[in-house]
Amino acid sequence: MTEDISTADFQSEGAVPKGAAPKVVLSGIRATGRLHLGNLLGPMRHFVTLSRSPEHLCYFFVADLHSLTTLPEPGLLARYVPEIVLDYLAAGIDPNDNVIYAQSSVGETCELAVLLSNLMILSHLQRCATFKEKARQQPHNVNAGLFYYPVLMAADILGPGADLVPVGEDQLQHVEMARDLARRYNAQYGTAAGARLVVPETLERAAVRIPGLDGGSKMGKSDGNTLNLNDDSEVAWEKLRVAVTDTNRKRRKDPGDPTKCNIFTLHTYLSSDDEVREVAQGCRSAAIGCFDCKKVLHANLMAELTPFQERRAELASQESLVSDVLCDGARRVRPVIADSTARVRAAMGIESRLSCRTK
Ligand code: TRP
Repeated sequence: MTEDISTADFQSEGAVPKGAAPKVVLSGIRATGRLHLGNLLGPMRHFVTLSRSPEHLCYFFVADLHSLTTLPEPGLLARYVPEIVLDYLAAGIDPNDNVIYAQSSVGETCELAVLLSNLMILSHLQRCATFKEKARQQPHNVNAGLFYYPVLMAADILGPGADLVPVGEDQLQHVEMARDLARRYNAQYGTAAGARLVVPETLERAAVRIPGLDGGSKMGKSDGNTLNLNDDSEVAWEKLRVAVTDTNRKRRKDPGDPTKCNIFTLHTYLSSDDEVREVAQGCRSAAIGCFDCKKVLHANLMAELTPFQERRAELASQESLVSDVLCDGARRVRPVIADSTARVRAAMGIESRLSCRTK
């Protein structure tokens, strides 16, 4: 089976500048709360780098439909969508060179998901690790949306014809399912010219695992161990002050082990190479205490957060900015997704002529 398909097969006219053939990059973030430091240092930094390369055409969206699987409160969802957009913008993604949109603004994605669901193998959905995990986390709400999650995610990816999907480790299985679905679709329906789907590549983010302040291995919203992007200097210090360090270092004069300390890991993301070396040495020799080490981290953290917060506040003060960005994004991505969907529909034998579509 050949997977060697040009994205041009599947892009509507004008979506990609002719001749330049940039790679289509696509990723989404669920709108389930304000982003935290781990999101900024992990996915956001990666997106910003990708978005600045002329070799890429980037689509970044807010996966609001996916958020419904775990966030049933309408008021919260409506609040979180703009927050994510502001975070994208404040992190440095330029909405002119890149397309930022809300998943729900392109209804064709849902249609594509329904069409493609006929090629998804039930046992693959049943085996999906995130489904099992969510079912454990919210036993009172094991809804069909959770189960269907990888189908909709495949439509998110295949609709705009993504070549590259940057994701963290926890999403690898989902992208693999999308690849698998595209291959199965191509094998069954992709014989006609222009009917094939692009089989995307996963762009696994360099293993960035931002540890939690509680000593846990991952900073996570639900674990309550985060530094938030809107934490001011005082709040951030209060959190750092009580954050868990090397638990074997009980007294100031005990030497510590930086490799067993989450604060040290945070240094590696936020501090200069010299500072990282100095705090490591100081910790091992007990020349500095955890408090001193945290002070250095705090200064570097605020050097990262303060300009972000200032940019974000400035963007948030522009009244219609978020809705303008989302409308413009939807306007740009919709024809691409609609075109893919129309081709898939036709390839699968749904004739628009017979179903008398009004739009
Ligand atoms: N499932 C992703 C997450 O929770 C969000 C997402 C939805 C996504 N659709 C996508 C990511 C398509 C990449 C591509 O992080």
